[in-house]
Amino acid sequence: MLNQLRNKEHRLVVGLMSGTSLDGIDAAVVQLEGSGIHTHAKLVHFESFAYDNELREKLKLLCSPDHSSTPHVCAMNFDLGRRFAEVVLDTVSKAGLSMNDIDLVSSHGQTIWHIPSNEANDPFGIRSTLQIGDISVIAKLTGRPVVGDYRTADMAVGGQGAPLTPYVDYILFRDENKGRIVQNIGGIGNCASLPAGGKPEEVIAFDTGPGNMIIDQAVFHLSGGTRSYDKNGEWAAKGTVQESLLLEMLQHPYFSIPPVKTTGRELFGKQYAMEWLHRALDANIRSEDIMATFTAFTARSIADSYKQFIMNKQHIHEIIVSGGGAHNRTLMHMLADLLPDQTVLTSDEYGIRGDSKEAAAFAVFADHYVFGVPNNLPAATGARHPTIMGKLALP
Ligand SMILES: Nc1ncnc2c1ncn2[C@@H]1O[C@H](COP(=O)(O)OP(=O)(O)O)[C@@H](O)[C@H]1O
Ligand SMILES: [Mg+2]
Repeated sequence: MLNQLRNKEHRLVVGLMSGTSLDGIDAAVVQLEGSGIHTHAKLVHFESFAYDNELREKLKLLCSPDHSSTPHVCAMNFDLGRRFAEVVLDTVSKAGLSMNDIDLVSSHGQTIWHIPSNEANDPFGIRSTLQIGDISVIAKLTGRPVVGDYRTADMAVGGQGAPLTPYVDYILFRDENKGRIVQNIGGIGNCASLPAGGKPEEVIAFDTGPGNMIIDQAVFHLSGGTRSYDKNGEWAAKGTVQESLLLEMLQHPYFSIPPVKTTGRELFGKQYAMEWLHRALDANIRSEDIMATFTAFTARSIADSYKQFIMNKQHIHEIIVSGGGAHNRTLMHMLADLLPDQTVLTSDEYGIRGDSKEAAAFAVFADHYVFGVPNNLPAATGARHPTIMGKLALP
């Protein structure tokens, strides 16, 4: 089955992404040709499937050590596998294709825990990562081979298992004459700096900190559970940034750690957001001002980290933003104001719909896996060497 695939000039791959926002599952049907850093990717179709509030809250519990349990993890691993399979079938049919047209499925899985480095005084503080949504379930229910579980491979060779997409950012966005930072704003923000004419080893990449995670949690709480995100940043736009609260939030030690670095719900999850939210509410700060301040927190943490870790080394002309946060106009305006010497754009302007970029990246990873081509970027993850990430489940 894989041999046949390796002989095909064009491969049609479904990439699945379910990120730390816990907003749902993104599916991209991507046509691929070429190989390695000369891969050419064309988006054929894209769909997003939202998790309902009940499932999202269940997943938040899984991401919280006080509320999670082994039986819950076991059950959700299967439940998500089934949901991922349904998403594949639905997406392929909406694309007007049949499953026989699809060569391969690639699944990121749902991260429920990520320990980027060993933690000295904790007996379970062992470098590791866990993405669930079993790939055998996906393979058996879709009838297609599935590659998944990428991050563990990078970690096994000394990397942090994240961020992974900078490798694909390099393939898609590098330019001979312009220095670019590709910024994804999902639950967590991550960036990849691609200096003009740079080699893969010159990429500077890291997680910038929270993306939409804190904003989403605040919206959910302040709206009494009726909304899960600040549509187009409209709520934040009505408020005023509370500078002293913002400066306090920016004191978080994560922001001064030099790259390579990664983070997630472990540091910036529900508990963290609720602590700041209660602080703000106790200080009688109005809801719209909280929204403005939390949005500024994301913008400032991103722009500050560029100044601290990138712009003193590389000349940057453009910031290309993808992920759900690119739809938050308040956040985008704040970023543009903080970075007056660069042009802040969305990846849509490069023909790659911003929402689809991460799902499309996973299609590229699976394609590399099948061809036996390394798909991690040691400059981004800190791995000792390039390696082939992924595991295969056959139908
Ligand atoms: N129209 C919009 N306005 C503001 N924020 C949005 C909009 N659409 C999506 N988002 C934000 O993007 C998030 C989803 O981003 P996504 O890139 O899917 O992140 P992840 O990869 O972590 O799942 C949502 O939770 C929401 O906060
Ligand atoms: Mg998402």
